[in-house]
Amino acid sequence: MAQFEDQIKTLFANNSRQAGDWQYTVPSPQSYPYQWLWDSCFHVIIYSYFDLGRAKAELRSLLAKRFDNGMVPHMIYWKRGPVIDIDWGRGRDVSTITQPPMIAYAAWQIFQKDNDLDFLESVYRPIFHYYKYLINERDPHEKYILGMINPDESGEDNSPRFDGVLGLPPVHRFDENLAKRIGLVNENIKCKFDAPFCMKNFFWVKDVPFNAIMVENLQRLVYIAEKLERGYDAEYFSRKRDAMIKAMRALMFEDGFYWSTFGENYQKIKVKTWAIFAPLFAKLLSRDEAEILVKNHLTNPKEFWCPYPISTVSVNEPSFNPKDMWRGPVWLAVNWFVYQGLKNYGYNEEAAALKEKSLALIAKNGFREYFNPLTGEGLGARDFTWGGLLLDMN
Ligand code: GLC
Repeated sequence: MAQFEDQIKTLFANNSRQAGDWQYTVPSPQSYPYQWLWDSCFHVIIYSYFDLGRAKAELRSLLAKRFDNGMVPHMIYWKRGPVIDIDWGRGRDVSTITQPPMIAYAAWQIFQKDNDLDFLESVYRPIFHYYKYLINERDPHEKYILGMINPDESGEDNSPRFDGVLGLPPVHRFDENLAKRIGLVNENIKCKFDAPFCMKNFFWVKDVPFNAIMVENLQRLVYIAEKLERGYDAEYFSRKRDAMIKAMRALMFEDGFYWSTFGENYQKIKVKTWAIFAPLFAKLLSRDEAEILVKNHLTNPKEFWCPYPISTVSVNEPSFNPKDMWRGPVWLAVNWFVYQGLKNYGYNEEAAALKEKSLALIAKNGFREYFNPLTGEGLGARDFTWGGLLLDMN
């Protein structure tokens, strides 16, 4: 592990960037040379093991380009380059969608390491407004479940969870998928970025991981508000969290699984992806429910426990493709979420096995973006940062 830690430090030194006074880390120098929201939260968690100052700088830069309504964009182009040169409709330096809300978790991770109340206070206001944005604008009718306006907001760009809503069959080309997502970016521009008023007509998916991550982050936000002696805020976010837990149970849960939903009548999207395990991360399941999920599905070689676990899509789904981004390959941030979920329920052996298999992937193939779950082959971007999360699997 000590040698592995050195490799991570080198990777992060190489991927670290400076723009004026701001410091950020690119997920991959060639393929992803900008700042991304949930990636930066992962980077904070990773830096917290060896450079707290850098962890704080990463969080500050992530919050620097927030919108007036509180939204933190999922991409910041500190220096615009030729890669992913999309017109997001609001100038050249930011995207106009968000990503899974891991920001409070990241801030709390830093605080856990050094108890620096001044830092917490210095980032609290943008963090407060970001979560208020999600509550106000992504749950306009107070159903206590948040909507996403583009598959990319899940961080799982071409996941088959979104095929049906996009009008795509289980097998299709990557460029067909991308064209649909760019179409949604353009609808959002036409909507003048007024998501609650307008985007429901085009895409409004209530996703399980996005909402489970929100629940877990609201808990962190409650801790933060308590530390900062903001009793009203703590009480407010705690109430929202409780309401979300209840609503997710009522509207997403069926026969032991939480399913993402779409439409006004909460139609369930019954495509088996790793999303069914995201509730473990937020402790949404009873012990008995977790047992069935872990024993019958997670560790089942016919579903997710491939030679290199875990596949992001169940092997027995028609959309499963071991080489196509979010349609099957292993992603190490997913393994990190699942690892934390397993630990929450005391599945220490399964968690240790997942960590060992994840380490083996990096040892064999380096820091790649994703991996073939059947062969372990490294795929996608190189020098990709998410492998650093292995530091936080302990
Ligand atoms: C890809 C991933 C997304 C990530 C981005 C930058 O688009 O799907 O989750 O944030 O790359 O690493």
